[in-house]
Amino acid sequence: MDGHLTGAHAGERSCAGSLDPAEWRALRILGHQMLDDLFDDLEAVREGPVWQPMPDEVRTAWQAPLPHSGADPVDVYADYRRLVAPYGVGNRHSRFFGWVHGGGTAIGMLAEMLAAGLNANCGGRDHAPIEVERQVARWAAEILGFPKEAGGLVLSGTSMANFVAVLAARRAALGGAVREDGVGGTRLTTYASEGAHMCVARALDMAGLGSASLRLIACDDAGRIELADLAGRLATDRAAGMRPFLVVGTAGSVDIGAIDDLAGLAELCREAGLWFHVDAAFGAMAMLWEPFRSGFRGIEQADSVAFDFHKWMQVPYDAGCIVVRDPAVLQATFARRPDYLRSTPGGLGAGEPWPVDLGPELSRGFRALKVWMTIRTYGADRLGAVVKHCCTLAQRLAATIARTPELELVAPVALNIVCFRVAGGDDATQEGIASWLQETGRSVLSTTTLGGRCVLRAAIVNHRTRAADVDAIVSDVLDVRNVLMVMPRR
Ligand SMILES: Cc1ncc(COP(=O)(O)O)c(C=O)c1O
Repeated sequence: MDGHLTGAHAGERSCAGSLDPAEWRALRILGHQMLDDLFDDLEAVREGPVWQPMPDEVRTAWQAPLPHSGADPVDVYADYRRLVAPYGVGNRHSRFFGWVHGGGTAIGMLAEMLAAGLNANCGGRDHAPIEVERQVARWAAEILGFPKEAGGLVLSGTSMANFVAVLAARRAALGGAVREDGVGGTRLTTYASEGAHMCVARALDMAGLGSASLRLIACDDAGRIELADLAGRLATDRAAGMRPFLVVGTAGSVDIGAIDDLAGLAELCREAGLWFHVDAAFGAMAMLWEPFRSGFRGIEQADSVAFDFHKWMQVPYDAGCIVVRDPAVLQATFARRPDYLRSTPGGLGAGEPWPVDLGPELSRGFRALKVWMTIRTYGADRLGAVVKHCCTLAQRLAATIARTPELELVAPVALNIVCFRVAGGDDATQEGIASWLQETGRSVLSTTTLGGRCVLRAAIVNHRTRAADVDAIVSDVLDVRNVLMVMPRR
């Protein structure tokens, strides 16, 4: 009997065509080495540079032609250690403040390995990984305060989740015919604050509605959408023959972490007959900390919410989520299967509805496992404490900036994002400071534009970040300021 057919002989020889090793022991040793290296890297992550630029010889290595014959995995892994591992984004590091990127965890890393080992396709059929995803969606709904009947799907991130929400809202507004006929001449319009993430406009573009159909409404001083301006714009558009159909509230704006008046938006949408969607990409996880929940009042009335596990929940990239009040809407938006994917009463074809009926992807990886293992391992309360920790550090940083005459706080700190400027410095100075800190590996800040001026932006998201890391932002920025602004004048 062929060795590949019998477990008993599988270790002795591999069949022609199989990619399994002819001899497992060496690969097993290499696998253990990889795991040890990963743990070592994580344990020591604080000690290295946050980020370092790739040297020319590393970039050049990426121009190699397609290899026609294989290499020893030991050599392939050596290349990974030399060419990839040292040149990551840096978001595992405690002094990465550039963007709202989660820091990841060892448990998430292991879960990712287990998911790859199982290699489940989560587009459909009746198997446990889909139950894991359903469980994760129910937990997500519970975090948001949605009713039990709510449903959802794990997706690559909030960009995709916002896109799914736009398609669901479009289907709800125009009925099933839109799936065959498109929107025709109907001019559907969407409303969001000026602080909304750019992926909302992109979702409208991808849905065939055009990014210009997004009306960006002014914000108040706290960065929250002006409800009166929104109501005015709705009336103007209706009078001009447009068909308003969707309002996107922001719960944690990308630049400053502002949270719209979600209860006010819910009421307005109810009265105006509009789909109410909330982009809570990172904000949603702040609901894990009980005292913050009141700031999100109204989110539980939304028709849909998009958010990420890979940001504040620290799940390794990528994992986002769409939660909808009425899962039937997702089915009405996406379900349509050819015969070869037909449901059956038993066997693998059972288990309705399949994820492919609720979203745009057929083949889907087992993203839910790393979310499930993260929530099981830490529990919602400990994950909420990480959010609280980050927000406390953000307030500490804001307070230090406020009492430092060389620095200027430029926006209120609603959650975990602190925007500031070096006083008296022009836009190039702010950019120069961010670049210098990145290139020296000391810390990673980003820049954005607020009120027409370039500002430095620190997003505190990483569970590894400590008070000393946040204090170092101020001392590092002052050091560079002295080099860029003071020394040249001498
Ligand atoms: C408010 C907001 N919405 C949407 C996104 C996009 O999320 P993702 O990168 O997971 O697609 C982000 C990313 O930072 C965000 O902050």
